[in-house]
Amino acid sequence: MSQTARGRFITLEGGEGTGKSTLQIALRDRLAGQGVDVVLTREPGGTPRAEAIRALVLTPPGGKPFAPLAEALLMNAARSDHLDELIRPALSAGTWVICDRFSDSTRVYQGVSGEVSPEALQSLVAHVVGPTCPDLTLILDAPVSIAQERRAARKGPKDAQDVFEQRDLDFHQSVRLAFADIARSEPDRCKLIDASRLPNEVADAAWSHVAQLLSSAEVH
Ligand code: TMP
Repeated sequence: MSQTARGRFITLEGGEGTGKSTLQIALRDRLAGQGVDVVLTREPGGTPRAEAIRALVLTPPGGKPFAPLAEALLMNAARSDHLDELIRPALSAGTWVICDRFSDSTRVYQGVSGEVSPEALQSLVAHVVGPTCPDLTLILDAPVSIAQERRAARKGPKDAQDVFEQRDLDFHQSVRLAFADIARSEPDRCKLIDASRLPNEVADAAWSHVAQLLSSAEVH
């Protein structure tokens, strides 16, 4: 396939243990099979400076989480660097970017406590993201109990939990509902995927949306 002028930007969202990393690799392989150059990245993180911010926010000194507003600012500082140093240059070079979490995670995770208003989060995110809005966001949805079993199976007994993983079931349930709300409110960009299925079934469902993006990219 001829390289498209601009790459496409796909983000994967959803609670912990919903299978975003597995899906990310499956989509990369399928796109590569179509001759598309793909870069995989994640948030918070993706560049050396953003990874340093990730370590600070997820495992803060002393173990006490930052307040939601401070978390939102740090996530967006990391995002600004990630966009400038990795995402925008890749898209401009015609490479597709698949990012494990992006701005919807800020709206959800820093929004669920209610301490920072949705409007404040939305305007902060909009300012940082600017025109680099995802072309497609796949929101992986699974019951919290299933997601927790998967996380437990993945982690060894001695693996430390980060500040988000330590939160209770109610928090993770609120996260699930908030992602579903975003999917409902932005149906053109966001597709809700039932992630309680087998990984290849999830990949097939996701691929139907990515294939549409691919055919529209080839037309333009
Ligand atoms: P994960 O990438 O291993 O899922 O862990 C990242 C954690 O960071 C996850 O619990 C969600 C959280 N997070 C936020 O709270 N806000 C954000 O903007 C992003 C990108 C992630």
